[in-house]
Amino acid sequence: MKLADNKATLSFSNGSPSVDLPVYHGSIGPDVIDIRKLYAQTGMFTYDPGFLSTASCQSSITYIDGDKGELLYRGYPIEQIASQCDYLDTCYLLLKGDLPDATQRADFHKLVINHTMVNEQLQFFLRGFRRDAHPMAVLTGLVGAMSAFYHDSTDINNPQHRDISAIRLIAKMPTLVAMAYKYGIGQPYMYPRNDLSYSGNFLRMMFGVPCEDYKVNPVLERALDRIFILHADHEQNASTSTVRLCGSSGTNPFAAIAAGVACLWGPAHGGANEACLNMLEDIQKMGGVAKVGEFMNQVKDKNSGVKLMGFGHRVYKNYDPRAKLMQETCNEVLAELGLEKDPLFALAKQLEKIALEDDYFVQRKLYPNVDFYSGIVQRAIGIPVNLFTGIFALARTVGWIAQLNEMISDPEYKIGRPRQLFTGSPRRDVPTMAKA
Ligand code: ACO
Repeated sequence: MKLADNKATLSFSNGSPSVDLPVYHGSIGPDVIDIRKLYAQTGMFTYDPGFLSTASCQSSITYIDGDKGELLYRGYPIEQIASQCDYLDTCYLLLKGDLPDATQRADFHKLVINHTMVNEQLQFFLRGFRRDAHPMAVLTGLVGAMSAFYHDSTDINNPQHRDISAIRLIAKMPTLVAMAYKYGIGQPYMYPRNDLSYSGNFLRMMFGVPCEDYKVNPVLERALDRIFILHADHEQNASTSTVRLCGSSGTNPFAAIAAGVACLWGPAHGGANEACLNMLEDIQKMGGVAKVGEFMNQVKDKNSGVKLMGFGHRVYKNYDPRAKLMQETCNEVLAELGLEKDPLFALAKQLEKIALEDDYFVQRKLYPNVDFYSGIVQRAIGIPVNLFTGIFALARTVGWIAQLNEMISDPEYKIGRPRQLFTGSPRRDVPTMAKA
């Protein structure tokens, strides 16, 4: 970051002396006012619940321009990455800062592919869960448990440990997600096959069975790979900030990523694709397209508590560029599977059309986000709704690791420790009765 020529001056109406605050430029995007010394200078904190105006770190990984609807991974537009790279190229880019050349690509693919198996003991840990446990509960546990299985890569301050744990997490997440699925439906786990692509291997571990061969459908393989690419990183979102905060205490990488998985589960974040599909199914049960108007009235009624899931985004106030790409993939997958007339897809399109023309949504700049379409694609592939967020976690793992490693390597990094505006009771004594 570069110190700007101008400064910000904070003045007070009560006559307290004003303070000058440095301003920094990034390479693109808004400047930041450096308030690190504000408390020392004024005895005051800033107040920004939800971090609406706060840059929590400096980062060179992912850039979003919410007004333009632009998403860049290490400077490359998501549209170009999604059409010219595969998920492992994207992982390399996010982790290392640049796209791999041919040799680096082959080496990286081989490295990841060689770590896909998980410690055999992990399946006994998995067996402790109820069969009907939510896959996100299982995944939070399994990822956290990795720190008990891979003792040789748990020192977050050791760069080699960080590299090995990064590869392990990226390689083993598909295996863990597929194991969680197979456990839930009572089928045998499928061991990974290293001659398949990352996404092809995942499809086989999910849908293959030991008693017959599994042929990977290239359209579905590409679709899944695109889902992984589009979800790989997204700047300082809630789960990434959780991973950074958790990792800032020096905890091991597996524990920090498990915290990210837990955060992602929420319906306002990664759980939105599951919530979106449940919403579409509910409207379908109510009567489908004919009931869209009635449903929209509920959404617009503040007292109903109903939200149009898959719509709106904290940062994108124009269009989520990932939604456009996902819509393309959605068309391809439905055509491949002969599901063009899928009623849920028709319903989603109708909802989108109405919302894009409706004043309520236009005024609030609410547009479809990536999850509006990713749920339909996943459902068509055969992925059960309760596993959608698990797929998101699998894809986002690389972003979490890249961000965590960037933070640890930053010489200015400190444990994250926000302060508060205290509104509770000032000091008081316990009354006599309570003491007795
Ligand atoms: N349906 C109906 N109204 C909405 C929606 C929605 N999906 N999203 C926002 N609004 C309304 C709010 O009620 C508010 O209206 P008001 O100004 O009259 O009070 C206004 O739009 C602004 O909304 P905020 O909640 O302040 O926006 P914020 O940026 O805090 O929230 C969020 C963003 C959480 C994503 C929100 O849009 C939402 O809950 N969307 C549905 C869930 C979803 O799809 N999440 C996925 C996020 S993308 C991801 O994680 C990959």
